[in-house]
Amino acid sequence: MNSSTKIAHCAEAIVYRTSWHNHDVCVKYRIPKRYRVASLDDHLRQARTAQEAKLIARANEAGLNTPFIREIDLTNFIIVMDWISGKPLKDYLLDHLSFEAKQLLFQLGVTMGSLHQLGIIHGDLTSSNCIINTDDLSPWLIDFGLGKFSVSIEDQAVDLLVFKKTLKSTHVMIAEEAWNIFIGEYSHPKKEEILTRINTIEQRVRHSKGLN
Ligand SMILES: Nc1ncnc2c1ncn2[C@@H]1O[C@H](COP(=O)(O)OP(=O)(O)O)[C@@H](O)[C@H]1O
Ligand SMILES: [Mg+2]
Repeated sequence: MNSSTKIAHCAEAIVYRTSWHNHDVCVKYRIPKRYRVASLDDHLRQARTAQEAKLIARANEAGLNTPFIREIDLTNFIIVMDWISGKPLKDYLLDHLSFEAKQLLFQLGVTMGSLHQLGIIHGDLTSSNCIINTDDLSPWLIDFGLGKFSVSIEDQAVDLLVFKKTLKSTHVMIAEEAWNIFIGEYSHPKKEEILTRINTIEQRVRHSKGLN
């Protein structure tokens, strides 16, 4: 590997940008959790590394915008995937929704519909886990570390609610408009059922907090 730049050091992983066989790549290394028994920790990190790579690869094979997976090294808990050049979606979600931002939310809604129809749950759809390619303004999904394969209505509803919560907490001024654009473009044969479930979950949460 050539010289690499450390991009992020989060709770679960360290991410580097480097060159790998002449490709601009992201190396995601899942770090150990010292409080876990080592053998269990190895097992969990291997399983999550494999699962994340599988989800990203499956979506990429289906033509969705997720990084191309170059290598999975389970012994070292590493995924090597193409580097997506651009800026996180959160940089576009400012106090006023620009024309560009609206287009991105449209596209993200379409992408999430396709992802769910493929049977994939992203698991952590925040405005940081979506990178906007600045050349063609296309949204790319990264960070499937909490993702899974599922076609359950509940899982799909919860997946969308993660994004709604991000909008409400991080992008307060434009949250409602952004959500309406996003969900308007989300297309799924069971969309009505999923939307109803979203309402049910939100009511459940309000009830448990004593807000109803
Ligand atoms: N394929 C990629 N292309 C470009 N940047 C990436 C890529 N994967 C991760 N990153 C960058 O690294 C950061 C952390 O990676 P991520 O997969 O989101 O891990 P974490 O689970 O720690 O949030 C991202 O927010 C993004 O800035
Ligand atoms: Mg992330």
